[in-house]
Amino acid sequence: MRIVLGVTGGIAAYKAAALCSALVQRGDDVDVVLTEGAERFVGALTFAALTRKPVLTSLWEAPETIPHIALARAADAIAIVPATANAIAKIALGLADDLLSNIALAARVPLIVAPAMNSAMYEHPATQANLATLRARGVTIVEPGIGFLAERESGVGRLADQEAILAAIDASATRARELAGERVLVTAGPTREAIDPVRFLSNASTGTMGIELAREALARGANVDLVLGPTSVTPPSEARVVRVVSAQEMYDATLARAPGADIAIATAAVADWRPVQTYAHKRKKDEGAEGMSLERTPDILATLGERKNGTFLVGFAAETRDFETFALEKLASKRLDAIAVNDVSGNDSGFGTGPSELVLLWPGGGREELGRAGKGELARRMWDALLRVRAERGTRT
Ligand SMILES: Cc1cc2nc3c(=O)[nH]c(=O)nc-3n(C[C@H](O)[C@H](O)[C@H](O)COP(=O)(O)O)c2cc1C
Repeated sequence: MRIVLGVTGGIAAYKAAALCSALVQRGDDVDVVLTEGAERFVGALTFAALTRKPVLTSLWEAPETIPHIALARAADAIAIVPATANAIAKIALGLADDLLSNIALAARVPLIVAPAMNSAMYEHPATQANLATLRARGVTIVEPGIGFLAERESGVGRLADQEAILAAIDASATRARELAGERVLVTAGPTREAIDPVRFLSNASTGTMGIELAREALARGANVDLVLGPTSVTPPSEARVVRVVSAQEMYDATLARAPGADIAIATAAVADWRPVQTYAHKRKKDEGAEGMSLERTPDILATLGERKNGTFLVGFAAETRDFETFALEKLASKRLDAIAVNDVSGNDSGFGTGPSELVLLWPGGGREELGRAGKGELARRMWDALLRVRAERGTRT
């Protein structure tokens, strides 16, 4: 594995030398980047001798190689050990004023951050908010332990043990390859069924859950097709995004991309009904709405279920009552391999960019509560569960 080891300016920087040695000994190719602060605690010579490579300390050292982009691209993972409160804040904000923060911003590979600092700094709401921001973005935080700190007092903020850091690096790198070579299809967002050129039937979906699932699939190495209804939420740029408006367009785009998909996850809140007639001109108030009738839209999930040929098919059910009963019916009738159930009866659960709560059900009575969390975190939990269910069933068929 090729690892960028970023070392920042905390007392625990000396422990990074032992970590670097352990990585080299097990055969990893390590590039060490020291911040200016780190250089005050440990010498570049130590790391150069361990890695037998030059240690990088400045953005301006070899501009012809554009080191921050080259390293960000070449690495399988970036580990910042120890990470100061300052470095964590900079990464959370997207600041890029030295080599390491530039690498962190340019990288698309797993980022592992092991904080180490005085308890007061660690517990400060600013640091906690920054760590929460990083976690929500999928960064792995190796939690510090409680122990004897440099201030000669015991408290939280002690750098995690080397074994825990190595395990976190391995888990992140493994996760990044988990879906390598697989094609994942995700549908997301609402649809709009036109009444006339300015009015439509729709629902409150923002597509956030599907977008987060697509993002997580990309992070695990998949090729992702995202069929996306109208939303202002930005999808990940690495996905092949097809924008659609109506249920019919979503049906056509999804069915066109379904053959050969290894996994398909239908999160879209597709309108169940559409007006039988769409008026060519804006309907006037005094023309009334009498006679306006609705018809069923094509059932995308049922058709995916009928035609699935080796695709692991996952549905979503957003319900306001009896939600697991309805979901189990949907699981069976649409031939799904799993279904995620979302209780959207409350004001603060379900739609939008806020937190949500999911339960995953699969045939044969399988059930797992994914708990309540932000949608980025839920997407990670859901992928973990889905891949476990798929592996247990020993099926990619
Ligand atoms: C003796 C000493 C020890 C320090 N230890 C830590 C530490 O353990 N964790 C931390 O977050 N900051 C620590 N700091 C503060 C950082 O060095 C300071 O915030 C610096 O700007 C960090 O720069 P960097 O994040 O670019 O490496 C320490 C400072 C001094 C002078």
